[in-house]
Amino acid sequence: MPVTILAIESSCDETSASVCVDGAILSNFIANQTVHETFGGVVPELASRAHMQNIVPVVDTALQKAFPEIPTSAERLQKLDAIAFTQAPGLIGSLLVGAQFAKSLALSLQKPLIAVHHMQAHVLANLIPEHRPSFPFLCLTVSGGHTQIVLANSPTNLQIIGETIDDAAGEAFDKSAKLLGLPYPGGPLIDKYAKEGNPLAFKFAEPQIPELNFSFSGLKTSILYFLQKQEPGFIEANLNDLCASVQHAIVTILIKKLQKAVVQTGVKQVCIAGGVSANSGLRNALVEADKKYKWEPFVPPFEYCTDNAGMIAITAYYQYLAGQFTSLDASPSARAVWA
Ligand code: KG4
Ligand code: ZN
Repeated sequence: MPVTILAIESSCDETSASVCVDGAILSNFIANQTVHETFGGVVPELASRAHMQNIVPVVDTALQKAFPEIPTSAERLQKLDAIAFTQAPGLIGSLLVGAQFAKSLALSLQKPLIAVHHMQAHVLANLIPEHRPSFPFLCLTVSGGHTQIVLANSPTNLQIIGETIDDAAGEAFDKSAKLLGLPYPGGPLIDKYAKEGNPLAFKFAEPQIPELNFSFSGLKTSILYFLQKQEPGFIEANLNDLCASVQHAIVTILIKKLQKAVVQTGVKQVCIAGGVSANSGLRNALVEADKKYKWEPFVPPFEYCTDNAGMIAITAYYQYLAGQFTSLDASPSARAVWA
């Protein structure tokens, strides 16, 4: 019998639901919250309220897209074998909405519940496309809140072998963008202007951090001091070159550590995940590393890089096969220990 899972993701500011059958994603519907745009960042209380408004239509749409031939919602729900949700980490109010909804559905349908770790799901998103890595593989997870190198030994054995000691890579992009006068989130804008600029125009301090760990706070300070020394109008006149140089600095830090991880582990299949993996400089660098260091790179489609329920569904599928279910009294957590 095929295994059909409905997964819900609500850890930050995207409400998403996905249906997966035997590891194949049938639908992955995402509702973005535009309410935060005027505030320069995600407002937790507004995020929870938007999740509450979105969750029913988002789940309904994901089910409709997965089973267009089935006429009613009640009948579509009968197809499900388990309900999965993002348990942690994330904004607690946002997580609670998804968790409560998933629990209520599991209880009313009398189906098992699966709690998924959001960061593990980012790694396993690489198993969704047809061109996917085999185990073991390395994954660089780079988002607004995290920067990690993970050694994936199996779907249920993921080991963090390096992580940031201060800012995340996405924060480094966003904070640098702010210094350049760009609106939040600045990462995609740096990417856009960098395409027209010279990545070697300006050089910023490179952190010397031991092992496979990262640090980005020094880079931000180096950019700040550099800009403070310039004449008025400097940023506007050099925006493309500044963005290209900032992007080059961040990508160089990431690729150097990844190469160190490849050498240390002997694992050459290298994946990327998280919002920053949408960055074209990082994607190009990965392809270059393929030629230079003989890695085998894997880059998932954009829709599976940023927050989405498809990655929760695929992770839940492997947890289902491993018999990893959770009880109805499981609580979400803003910070979670890596299982
Ligand atoms: O994974 P994500 O969607 O959300 C979480 O943080 O969980 O990642 C968002 C981060 C933001 O910092 C955003 O600026 C960054 O990803 N980002 C980018 C690009 N697209 C998104 N950074 C650089 N270049 C991009 N193209
Ligand atoms: Zn995320």
